[in-house]
Amino acid sequence: MSVADLLEGKRVCICAGAGGVGKTTTSAAVAMGMAARGLKVAVLTIDPAKRLANSLGLPELGNEERMVDPERFAEAGLEMRGELWAMMLDAKRTWDEVIERHAPDEKTRDAVLQNRIYQELSNAVAGSTEYMAIEKLFELHHEGRYDLLVLDTPPTRNALEFLEAPERLSRFVDSRSLSFFLKPGRLGMKVLGRGSGLLFGVMKRVTGIDLLADLSEFFQSFGDMASGIEERAARVGQLLGERETTFLLVTSPQRDAIDEAIFFRRRLRDRRLPFGGAIVNRMHEGADADADVSDDLEALLGDKLGRKVARNFEDHHRLAEHDRAGVRRLMRELGREPLIAVPLLDEDVYDLEGLAEIDEYLFAGEFVQV
Ligand SMILES: Nc1ncnc2c1ncn2[C@@H]1O[C@H](COP(=O)(O)OP(=O)(O)O)[C@@H](O)[C@H]1O
Ligand SMILES: [Mg+2]
Repeated sequence: MSVADLLEGKRVCICAGAGGVGKTTTSAAVAMGMAARGLKVAVLTIDPAKRLANSLGLPELGNEERMVDPERFAEAGLEMRGELWAMMLDAKRTWDEVIERHAPDEKTRDAVLQNRIYQELSNAVAGSTEYMAIEKLFELHHEGRYDLLVLDTPPTRNALEFLEAPERLSRFVDSRSLSFFLKPGRLGMKVLGRGSGLLFGVMKRVTGIDLLADLSEFFQSFGDMASGIEERAARVGQLLGERETTFLLVTSPQRDAIDEAIFFRRRLRDRRLPFGGAIVNRMHEGADADADVSDDLEALLGDKLGRKVARNFEDHHRLAEHDRAGVRRLMRELGREPLIAVPLLDEDVYDLEGLAEIDEYLFAGEFVQV
């Protein structure tokens, strides 16, 4: 089974999983592999290591896709039949774009964008990055300029936060909870209480910041846009379940990553979301676990060094065996669903050559043997 088979007929591929397992690396490698096969592909990365961002030709910030220079593939001796585009997602910038799109006029737009509460919120709303990743995906999907979009997902503790992001945003902008604040005469300001009124007053005198004015201004102008944003969040959420979308579950073979992968697979099933397959990244490769090489090594290298190397060898076997046990556990959950294993390479993956090396496994078309 190759990633190319899993993505047959798909326009959107979401690489989800726990933090640190290789989501960013895998999404770049998947995008590059599909582009090499002739598609026009864009990868939306979230937190690429600096060196990887450099290799993809990405500027530090910016919420726009850039085409990876075909020259770079030629230099690296790689065949590129399609186009690889990459973009680093900037959640704050995407929020601003949402406001720009929904604001009824320029005055409201500027009022919100410059509002202190908004500036804090757009950075801090729980799941904001998660939602904005899907929002950007939705936008690009509708523009239809790419054959395939590959989304890297944010390094959340819990991969599930990602699935819930559109609903969470909807709840946040839900007209009812906002209107709570919108009518200062009634419940809203009462909730803040007399004590807080005093607090705001003192704060205004000491710092010159009129937080109360900021608050009511924010909820006033944001409130007008709330239903538009909410409606869009619902449509954005639907993209996750469309027939042309698929989730690739990225995991490492470690126990807690496998636990989370199993959990995530079940949640996808509960939500009837499309699942392409699992990618177990960073596998320790080990030969036959029973091979006893210590005598041979000691004969070859002398007692001391020989023992040391033998111990190392055994450690490696243990890790490899442990990894295989993790994979077997995941396979029991997946049944006949595809699983692709990628070994832990000697070096970090930060350039096109490194991604190509990962692609040899992602696109090899072989089932793992465990
Ligand atoms: N198969 C692999 N072999 C070696 N290093 C890898 C492999 N996959 C990922 N890495 C490295 O592991 C680190 C974390 O990978 P990354 O893709 O950023 O994880 P995530 O996005 O899930 O947090 C990076 O330094 C990356 O280069
Ligand atoms: Mg990442």
